[in-house]
Amino acid sequence: MKRKKSIILICSLITGLFFSTVSAQSKTEWMNEQYRPQVHFSPAANWMNDPNGMVYYKGIYHLFFQYHPSSSIWGPMHWGHATSTDLIHWKHEPTAIYPDSLGTIFSGSAVVDKNNTSGFGKKGQIPMVAIFTHHNTKGERAGKNDFQNQSIAYSLDEGKSWTKYAGNPVLKNPGITDFRDPKVMWYEESKKWIMTLATKDHITFYSSKNLKQWVKESEFGSAIGAHGGVWECPDLFSLNYQGKKIWVLLVSINPGGPNGGSATQYFTGNFNGKTFTAFQTDTRWLDYGTDNYAGITWSNTGNRKIFIGWMNNWQYANVVPTTQWRGATTLPRELAVQKVDNHYYIASLPVKELKLIQNKTKLIENIKVENYNLTANTGSLNGPVMVQLLTDKLESFNFILSNELGEQLVAGYDKPTNQFFIDRTKSGNTSFEIGFAERHTAPRISKQPGSRITLVIDRASIELFADDGLSVMTDIFFPNKPFNQIHIQSQNRLLIKKLEYTGLNSIWQNR
Ligand code: FRU
Repeated sequence: MKRKKSIILICSLITGLFFSTVSAQSKTEWMNEQYRPQVHFSPAANWMNDPNGMVYYKGIYHLFFQYHPSSSIWGPMHWGHATSTDLIHWKHEPTAIYPDSLGTIFSGSAVVDKNNTSGFGKKGQIPMVAIFTHHNTKGERAGKNDFQNQSIAYSLDEGKSWTKYAGNPVLKNPGITDFRDPKVMWYEESKKWIMTLATKDHITFYSSKNLKQWVKESEFGSAIGAHGGVWECPDLFSLNYQGKKIWVLLVSINPGGPNGGSATQYFTGNFNGKTFTAFQTDTRWLDYGTDNYAGITWSNTGNRKIFIGWMNNWQYANVVPTTQWRGATTLPRELAVQKVDNHYYIASLPVKELKLIQNKTKLIENIKVENYNLTANTGSLNGPVMVQLLTDKLESFNFILSNELGEQLVAGYDKPTNQFFIDRTKSGNTSFEIGFAERHTAPRISKQPGSRITLVIDRASIELFADDGLSVMTDIFFPNKPFNQIHIQSQNRLLIKKLEYTGLNSIWQNR
């Protein structure tokens, strides 16, 4: 008997060892794939697009996402799932929501139903409720116009398993081909849920007391903002600006972005529980780069508004040269209101938790830039870095990442046009898409003479946050060999008062 037990024990130890070695090995493999982001979330394998259903609950940040579990190109959508305690390190979780007879699972949101308005909680349980679009492919193929409907599912085990509501869909399509991506929030003043829904070329707001019955409140946007493409993935929330509540409406559009393809515009304004009224008449973009799309914010994070986007663009998302997986997220960013010339703008900066992966910082002061070899000073680039520049007087400059193949990615500022830019024309493999090898620009919004600019560089992406996040750009790129050098050039002899060069640890290590 004793002998039998120890054999079982040895067998299970060997099996355990075998499986842990296999999974450790495969993790090392996927972690080290050529273009695998090291400080951004990506699925270990297969396709992802929009981040979905982000919600904070019991110390855990949930990130669901549009996921195709059996291919690295877009297909029948599921909700993939990842969790984090700090927004930086992510744990891949099993696929959360699967397609069913009503359709595949398109984008949406999730809330913590603290008052159990839905009644899904039993004996004092608090349900998490996901609100998403059921996309009926058969109906679409048959040429119908009502193939997208809103449905709900609930979880009583903190997001691990989800049960779809038997009464789905909860919001039926009135005959609008693009009728999707519900973002739901609690509106305390009238104690109701508000759903912000993308309805072709405008937004429709709905309200509900219980997440199950929805009433149309109003429409917004058909005559304002950018309309170069269909409206998708909206988000409505408020931010505090010096004691004043400023409402913000994010709307992704595809195509029609400022530098082509997909991008996210925003409106600042008022919301009274029924209608949204914009303060602005011009079009503004949350991020002017080509690779930040369909982003929304986490729910249940109190006064903090944390945003994350899909770091890609529908123009080429299905053909970018990664193999095992396709798609990643941007860095999580904290949103804030800034006022410039009496207008409210939304600024975004990487969340403060990024400091958890910062290693050695090198501080260099008073650089009079002509052709400055930064990596001669810091050592070659051999992993992700964050570079922060502070200047009292902003002048044109080029920040150049390069490799020994002569490939380069240039980011910087151009004073004559007052624009920041990212130029990926010579950034390596660009052949997968005509139009990928381009220079992208963002207007400078700040009127200050000086500027603080943060650049976060990962294996295949760069994020530029200028003027404390007022002008933002995110671009992806695919060098044939990793960029390992950085030069900064300035014909106008930009004076950098302070340059901080900070190495970033991979988020996949030591997990
Ligand atoms: C945005 C989007 C959404 C839709 C989802 C489908 O990228 O087109 O509108 O719900 O992707 O995967």
